[in-house]
Amino acid sequence: MTTGERASTSTSPDNPDFHLCARHTHVHARARSRVRGSIVVMTSYDWNAQTYAENVGFVPELGRTVLDLLDPQGHELVLDLGCGDGVLTAELASRAGRVHGIDASPDMVAAAQDRGLDAQVVHGAKIAEAITEGRLVAGSFDAVFTNAALHWIPAAQDVIAGVHQLLKPGGRFVGEFGGHGNVASLSIALHAARRLHGVEPAAHPWFFPTAAEYEELLRAGGFDVRLIEIHHRPTPLPTGAAGWIETFGDPFLGDLDADTAQAVAATAVELVEVSMRDSHGNWTADYVRLRFAAVRI
Ligand code: BEZ
Repeated sequence: MTTGERASTSTSPDNPDFHLCARHTHVHARARSRVRGSIVVMTSYDWNAQTYAENVGFVPELGRTVLDLLDPQGHELVLDLGCGDGVLTAELASRAGRVHGIDASPDMVAAAQDRGLDAQVVHGAKIAEAITEGRLVAGSFDAVFTNAALHWIPAAQDVIAGVHQLLKPGGRFVGEFGGHGNVASLSIALHAARRLHGVEPAAHPWFFPTAAEYEELLRAGGFDVRLIEIHHRPTPLPTGAAGWIETFGDPFLGDLDADTAQAVAATAVELVEVSMRDSHGNWTADYVRLRFAAVRI
């Protein structure tokens, strides 16, 4: 899930031809930034599919278990919120009746469409707007699925309100994203590295709630929460901390000149090496997942 900004031209789920989108093949984000006070806030990212697959191809792979939790049925219309380039969405499409993907990144949506999937550009926090514009239809979906997307959207209440509008009564909202403490080592190292290189602090870019916090938001948003749990999932990084930072580190690097960005990234890698790299040279990140299944009341 990214924070791209262009408008969609693609089909909507009430179009009988629509059939869906595929998932994250991003990578190598080039972020744009603005400055709020002395805090740098990253606003949007462009992703490179090839380095995404090399550095963090495990994201869609590990999302397969969330599909099992959704258990899509052959007659159902399912929305994939944060579909990326459609790798996982394609699998969802093979199990559900019809699937429609949304993602904030125009490049990812284009990649999903190239796979023959149905997708359009909609930011997860702006679903209500898309309904008003007639690009999505309220009360039309049997289920909303999301994997590794919601931690990019701090406006969680807006996401939940939009999902509630889209679902039929009794519809399911099932997903997984980063939970409290997720990638703590990498986050701290990136914040510290900026400070060590004398650059201004960056706003923390990700939303990693506890199960209790997210359950409260879901209940307040009109959902009956059937399952919500945090689980620690140490995650091997095929290209180490450097590869992870290349792909996901741009909220901390995108506002810097190339030399400073390289120096900050190198310092962050050095800081996390002691906890993330074993004696065989294998790297493992401290991933924490928040998984949930809720029903629209
Ligand atoms: C995650 O999948 O947990 C994640 C991805 C990018 C940045 C932060 C967390």
